[in-house]
Amino acid sequence: MKKLFIKTYGCQMNAYDSARMAELLAPHGYGVTDRADDADLVILNTCHIREKAGEKVYSEVGRLREIKQARPGMTIAVAGCVAQAEGAEMLRRAPTIDLVVGPQSYHRLPEMLARGHARQVATDFPADSKFDHLPEAADRIGPSAFLTIQEGCDKFCTFCVVPYTRGAEQSRPAADVEREARALVARGARELTLLGQNVNAYRGPEAGGEPVGLGALVRRLARISGLLRIRYTTSHPRDVDDALIAAHAEEPALMPFLHLPVQSGADRVLAAMNRGHSADDYRRIVARLRAARPDLALSSDFIVGFPGETDAEFAATLALIAEIGFAQAFSFKYSRRPGTPAAASPDQIPEDVKDARLAAVQALLRRQQDDFAAAQVGRTLPVLIERPGRHEGQVVGRSPYLQGVHLRAPVAAIGSVIPVTIESAGPNSLAGRRASMVAESGAAAVQAPERMAV
Ligand code: 5AD
Ligand code: SF4
Repeated sequence: MKKLFIKTYGCQMNAYDSARMAELLAPHGYGVTDRADDADLVILNTCHIREKAGEKVYSEVGRLREIKQARPGMTIAVAGCVAQAEGAEMLRRAPTIDLVVGPQSYHRLPEMLARGHARQVATDFPADSKFDHLPEAADRIGPSAFLTIQEGCDKFCTFCVVPYTRGAEQSRPAADVEREARALVARGARELTLLGQNVNAYRGPEAGGEPVGLGALVRRLARISGLLRIRYTTSHPRDVDDALIAAHAEEPALMPFLHLPVQSGADRVLAAMNRGHSADDYRRIVARLRAARPDLALSSDFIVGFPGETDAEFAATLALIAEIGFAQAFSFKYSRRPGTPAAASPDQIPEDVKDARLAAVQALLRRQQDDFAAAQVGRTLPVLIERPGRHEGQVVGRSPYLQGVHLRAPVAAIGSVIPVTIESAGPNSLAGRRASMVAESGAAAVQAPERMAV
């Protein structure tokens, strides 16, 4: 058995791709290890979204060089978005790298490996989808699984490299998604997170019919027996349509937690970012979603220090955050990405201003996150039990809002949704106790459709 070590950077799409690469390579004799120094194949699955991504990869490769010198048969592959962006340049710059494969080409890894030690690059966007080449693995998996349904982005936000590294928007056929969802549930998944760079732009081709949107897809997947929870990420405000809002209202399996990036609260900045929506559009969408699902909690992404952002515009972002209230959020300093329109702007914001704005936005978001967690204390939440805890007799699960929840329960509860009364809230997770004995086994939980106990 050869050993495979995969290091994953960046988003959940990469986490999904890493899992698929491991499955793809298993029939070729590769078993996963969690140590680079005894691996025969190391894959760095990279992210290009913010600064110094390439540099980080080269310094990681530098560390691997020493290991490789001691293990001459070792193969080092760079996958993901840095591979896509830099291509053959990586082989020139780092002699330690053997293979460079983009996010749309990694299904070719076995054939590349079979060619021995020839250094190779595959970063094209092939006409045949990688999904047609990926195996369906037979092993059991954890209760929560990712399923990529859409890739790429046509939005061209002026700060973002994704449309260049991941290519145009492409949706997998609805029937293929449903088949993969059923296979994941058969292997033990109880929660599926549907992934896409622009997941709610999903328009799944359907033989002999109209393309299927995300709302209709969610309804279809919600019928799969044994599938208790559905999530999707990352969505764009422009693609929140009536059918998706209706699915939030009517499908209890669709979790009341939504990552809906807004980036800024200032209309001039949103226009300069080419977001295609105003701050008021965002407010209206959130109001409609909350009307459909009153217990909905929100997460978002924010960029501070976008070129030209004034103090007043930054204040508008803080005001929007204060008004909407987020359960959780990510915030970033604007990072100049070569080749993107905003990188060429002469109005770059000084680093110290960006630092101060980031600190302010993060303080506000942290307060909101803590308040949201504290507000769960005393409530009974349905928790999907995912794994054993660190201590004997303890298990860890997730609330509908993706908060980790620690409680005492037998490991047999893994894979079930059980009601948990929250007793305390820490900075990163909640702790509680089982509210009742119902729905302990997977089978019982499957019978009982989940509904938030609010
Ligand atoms: N600078 C800072 N943040 C960025 N993001 C994407 N590109 C950049 C950039 N150039 C952030 C956005 C996006 C998230 C995935 O990463 O907020 O929603
Ligand atoms: Fe990047 Fe904008 Fe596309 Fe999101 S919508 S991936 S931020 S270009």
